[in-house]
Amino acid sequence: MEVRYENLPTFEDFSGSGVWRYKASLPFEMGISIKEGNTPLYTVPRIESDVGIEALRIKHEGMNPTGSFKDRGMTVGVRVAQELGAKRLACASTGNTSASLAAYGSRAGLEVIVLLPAGQVALGKIAQASLHGAKVLQLDANFDECLDIVTMLAEEGEVYVLNSVNPFRLEGQKTIGFEILEQSLEEVGRYPDRIVLPVGNAGNAAALYKGFRELVASGALKVEEVPKITAIQAEGAAPIVEAIQNGYDKVQRWPSVETRATAIRIGNPVNAPKALPAIRNTRGTAITVSDKEILAAQCELAEEGIGVEPASAASVAGLRKLRSSGVIKKEEYVVCLATGTLLKDPDAASLSREAPKEVPANVEEVMRVILN
Ligand code: F0G
Repeated sequence: MEVRYENLPTFEDFSGSGVWRYKASLPFEMGISIKEGNTPLYTVPRIESDVGIEALRIKHEGMNPTGSFKDRGMTVGVRVAQELGAKRLACASTGNTSASLAAYGSRAGLEVIVLLPAGQVALGKIAQASLHGAKVLQLDANFDECLDIVTMLAEEGEVYVLNSVNPFRLEGQKTIGFEILEQSLEEVGRYPDRIVLPVGNAGNAAALYKGFRELVASGALKVEEVPKITAIQAEGAAPIVEAIQNGYDKVQRWPSVETRATAIRIGNPVNAPKALPAIRNTRGTAITVSDKEILAAQCELAEEGIGVEPASAASVAGLRKLRSSGVIKKEEYVVCLATGTLLKDPDAASLSREAPKEVPANVEEVMRVILN
């Protein structure tokens, strides 16, 4: 297959930003950057052969500066906020958005307010948001209710919203898809048949689709080459899956949601109007996975050296399920999106494995425990 990207600027030309390298598809030439993007596409030979597909790669977005894909959207969103003269930036968050906004907003010298659902956000993410200098507010509410409040504040002109309801965030996130295509051609020799991703507010699904549509419109990609966008949600928070499986035009808001994958504990996905066509028009699908399946997939990835937070592992859990049911064929080349790093949620990580053993400090005792 011919390589169609040879005229793109190199990564080095853009001070190491894998996002601004694609400035031709972004609203500005450059923005506040912490060298986001350009994340690795990992092989996972054991999972690939166990699941039984021709090729599997993990696009590890946890390798971004603040440990999640949000940085790709934030570098663009904060640039737009600067252009508009916004002084106070805000988001509701299950954690990663708040960490990313805190880092990029502070770097831009702007005030950052984050609203978090109290008791429902992983420790690493709260620590990041506060250390990067955001004002962190914990509300006795779920994520969707926090977002309702941020939206009202924005309507009153008090804050500029940087949740994925902000379309400029999605412009930056399109670059995940561009990188996947480029890396796939270089490293696997063909484009993926399918991209499997965890879905919460459905921003990524919408962004991938927009990016691919633009490539098709520009003639760089054939419509039949667009990967099937395949959405995975946790059983306890699955309005997108419900809408896809029942053929609804709109998602129904789930008033109460629950999953150990706290990043995707979302009942009212604001990007659903864009994400439902993304899934349907690419001939993708949407399914749920249980928390048990998510945590098992997190361990499997960890055993291949890839540390991800629970929500990220939903993609691999979903792949496994869709392969068993025959929806994903063995000839396929699949990319699973890993959205955030393991270190975001140390509690979830340590609960999945045996606790460290207390051992007296001498060689014999240490040896006895090793051999046990
Ligand atoms: N994976 C992780 C690790 C996330 O943090 C999120 C969203 C998603 C997947 C879902 O992505 O919303 O584009 O479908 N986290 C948001 C936050 C909601 O506040 O950090 P999506």
